[in-house]
Amino acid sequence: MTPLATDLKKDATKAAERVGIMSDRIIIRGGKPLNGRVDVRGAKNLATKAMVAALLAETTSVLRDVPEISDVNIVTGMLNAYGVSVTETAPGELTLDPSEVERAHFSKIDALAGSSRIPILFCGPLLHRIGEALIPDLGGCRIGDRPINFHLDALRAFGAIVDKSYEGIRLTAPNGLTGAQIELPFPSVGATEQVLLTSVLAKGTTELRNAAIEPEIMELIAILQKMGAIITVEPNRVIVIEGVEKLEGYQHRCLFDRNEAASWAAAALATKGDIFVAGARQQELMTFLNVYRKVGGAFEITEEGIRFYHPGGDLKPVQIETDVHPGFMTDWQQPLVVALTQAHGTSIVHETVYENRFGFTEALNEMGANIVVHKDGIASVTRRVPRRALEQAAVITGPTPLHGADIEIPDLRGGFSHLIAALSAEGTSTVSNIGLISRGYEHFIDKLSALGADFDVEG
Ligand code: EPU
Repeated sequence: MTPLATDLKKDATKAAERVGIMSDRIIIRGGKPLNGRVDVRGAKNLATKAMVAALLAETTSVLRDVPEISDVNIVTGMLNAYGVSVTETAPGELTLDPSEVERAHFSKIDALAGSSRIPILFCGPLLHRIGEALIPDLGGCRIGDRPINFHLDALRAFGAIVDKSYEGIRLTAPNGLTGAQIELPFPSVGATEQVLLTSVLAKGTTELRNAAIEPEIMELIAILQKMGAIITVEPNRVIVIEGVEKLEGYQHRCLFDRNEAASWAAAALATKGDIFVAGARQQELMTFLNVYRKVGGAFEITEEGIRFYHPGGDLKPVQIETDVHPGFMTDWQQPLVVALTQAHGTSIVHETVYENRFGFTEALNEMGANIVVHKDGIASVTRRVPRRALEQAAVITGPTPLHGADIEIPDLRGGFSHLIAALSAEGTSTVSNIGLISRGYEHFIDKLSALGADFDVEG
């Protein structure tokens, strides 16, 4: 096994253990449509940040519709290490009590952080509460370098001092944190959250330009407003935050996970199935729904959720460019690419957010797909982040029948697309490292059963 494969296996096993999945592999007998209903709860990319926001208050917060995924467990472990008690007070309801925040040992934080990117967002709140923050080596999906320079530059602008040590990065703020004028080089989701979580208690006003405006960010702003923050969202990606002295705990129900919803929608299309995604809402999925319709998928929107289905007939090729909100999300491309292998003609997917997010296509090719990944853009699309793109465009020529194969999951979204491919392929597939999927897909094994998938889980 290569060192990367060994690391991936370790990540997958840890993630699986955190949510009680004791198996590593799933054997799928594919070629059957997925039909039925799945319930989607709170968004991974909001719930985890809302939990960090609780650290800013001195009183208790209550967060509802929290999914049982390993990234939530990582943040729970880290909050516990800092003295925040996190209790499940009802199914999916977490009560977070930050009244006794304390310092944590670096080794503990390092061990807990696992492969998550969330630890970086503890910086601002910890600097406000205990005057110091330590960041271990950061993980996350293996989809490019994923640097933290925007985060550190923003924290420095607030007055934080950043020291790199052998343990990781140590931040202090001997003179406290003061509002700043910050312009992000790219509307980064994480860096925008960093600025929000740091500025709300900083002295004076912060003006953030070129901010990300994803629905999860608007929701985080709503939570911070409930806590007592004063945040104004202005036109053209400008957010103004007037620092306050103190914040209170919040009560909030999480926004649904639109990435999970889009993934099940893609699964319905690729397997020629019919899935009702309870909890999904139209508003946050509008861009996805347009593409889904163009490809030949059908949907029906109700108050309870959205039904996604293959209405029969041929799927059509599309050209997609991933983008920041309100564009087509980078997290939606991997599951949809599986359906595009069945479209009649040539589709092109341009990845403009990450430098390396087409690794998952190799396995699809082994299963019979015809996907060529290009380093350079095919059209006039350029990457949003001025770094060298390793992989920029995938050209998918279809339709190509897929057949079963042995596949190793590389990351969260790529991994889910492998599951979809195995479910839609004729024959048997063995998919390993399934623990990585539990980072962001709640109870996915139970959901697959409920949808009539034919599989066995192996240890
Ligand atoms: N970037 C930098 N420097 C930084 C920060 C980001 O160069 O300091 C670059 C990244 O390398 C990347 C681009 O900016 O090329 C976008 O990164 P961004 O900061 O927007 O992403 P993120 O906050 O790290 C979140 C989600 C991702 C999702 C992206 C884009 C979380 C925990 N993660 O990542 O979700 O793809 O926003 O919407 O919220 C997932 O759920 O599978 C996932 C990867």
